[in-house]
Amino acid sequence: MNLESILFTQGFGSRRQCRALIRDARVSLGGTLCTDPDADFPTRDNTLRFSVDGIDWPYREHAYLLLNKPAGYECSRDPQHHLSVFSLLPPQFAERGVQCVGRLDQDTTGLLLLSDDGKFVHLFTSPKRKVPKVYVATTRHALDDAQLNALRDGVLLHGEPKPIAAVDAQARDDHTLALTVMEGKYHQVKRMIAAAGNRCEGLHRERIGGLSLPAALAPGAWQWLDESDLGSLRSG
Ligand code: URA
Repeated sequence: MNLESILFTQGFGSRRQCRALIRDARVSLGGTLCTDPDADFPTRDNTLRFSVDGIDWPYREHAYLLLNKPAGYECSRDPQHHLSVFSLLPPQFAERGVQCVGRLDQDTTGLLLLSDDGKFVHLFTSPKRKVPKVYVATTRHALDDAQLNALRDGVLLHGEPKPIAAVDAQARDDHTLALTVMEGKYHQVKRMIAAAGNRCEGLHRERIGGLSLPAALAPGAWQWLDESDLGSLRSG
């Protein structure tokens, strides 16, 4: 693929802007400046790396990202009341069409996936696709067995035709609930906790499928997902 197309597909602006970046000697590969927009480089196996203004980038046909979402950010490019999660990412990602894979509420923290692979986004957001998601909720009232059993047996949420059961519901301490759910309905976890007779005062997503939020990833930080992360996501 030629260098102009490489930058273009990776979100560095219009073709004209990408050409200008290259002509202005701002792009290098393997430590060597390349000022020819038509120079060809192999991109097939995702091993190509390039740098723009000294910042190193891997070439990726599709972007698969994980963000440790902090509270106070909306999962929308056009947020209504808070900042957008996209303000935490380099602008190249929005430019190349990266979107959130499902949404977390603005006050929910933790594991958020993003991608520009439409099939992947569709697969992981489709109601037909059953992927376990582990949430940790802080509850207003002390947890008790009746609440945990109600969550495991199924609670009826307003507007839903039948009760929704958690795959697992465990109290980690009096006010900390680990809840595993398969679906991704609007405010699902908060509504389930309310339906079980408690109230959710803080919510964090810890895991999707077999992929856990890396302990070393600070709130607001992001990372690329590699093949093994994508495999973990599908397992679990
Ligand atoms: N369930 C909720 O209630 N909120 C979230 O952000 C995610 C799941």
